[in-house]
Amino acid sequence: MNNIITIDGPAASGKGTLARKIADHFDYFYLDTGKIYRLIGLQAHQAKLIPEDNPDDVAIMAKTLSQNFDLTMMDNPELKSDLAGQMASRVGQFQHVRDAILDLQRHLAVHPPANKKGAVLDGRDCGTVICPEAPYKFFVTADQDIRAKRRFDELKLRGDDIDFETVLADMKERDDRDFNRSVVPTKPADDAIIIDTTNMSIDQAFSKMIKSID
Ligand code: DC
Repeated sequence: MNNIITIDGPAASGKGTLARKIADHFDYFYLDTGKIYRLIGLQAHQAKLIPEDNPDDVAIMAKTLSQNFDLTMMDNPELKSDLAGQMASRVGQFQHVRDAILDLQRHLAVHPPANKKGAVLDGRDCGTVICPEAPYKFFVTADQDIRAKRRFDELKLRGDDIDFETVLADMKERDDRDFNRSVVPTKPADDAIIIDTTNMSIDQAFSKMIKSID
């Protein structure tokens, strides 16, 4: 676990960008655990499963996915959609769904693909559940309004016809579920360094994080 860096935090906090930059900096493997939940969420949606009504079926699906997992699955552009994000948050509420992909995530962290010497894990429970022994743990956060504004700007840039209130309501719904679920609620590990990006640029946050790793 010596070469593992975990970066957890809520949606649109900047953790994904930071995790990718840090992985590039150290030439480590970057694992976006949210994408695995998004894959399960999309599969459930395509199978017309309502996660809250069929958690057992979703867990079976998650187990099958982890057994047949292939990194190219993560390249599916649909995984970036808001639908995939909401479905990911819904399937992630269930302990047996989370358990079904735990070994896969640990395996990728401890044996990073492409001969990489280490791994950066990005998600909600990387420092608390997946790799609690990782030597470097961060929790990246920012005020909810700021995160909603960032997501709104990103969607606008992509050409989506959406208003800020809808994005904010979506963010609230997802935060509520991710922070308050009874199973593995999103929270920093006891020894995580908190990075609040509300008034910080990505470059400022990046150098703060790198300094605490070097
Ligand atoms: O990081 P993201 O927005 O791609 O994650 C999508 C959803 O997946 C998030 O709202 C909650 C869930 N998730 C989780 O429960 N545990 C993780 N380690 C990563 C994501």
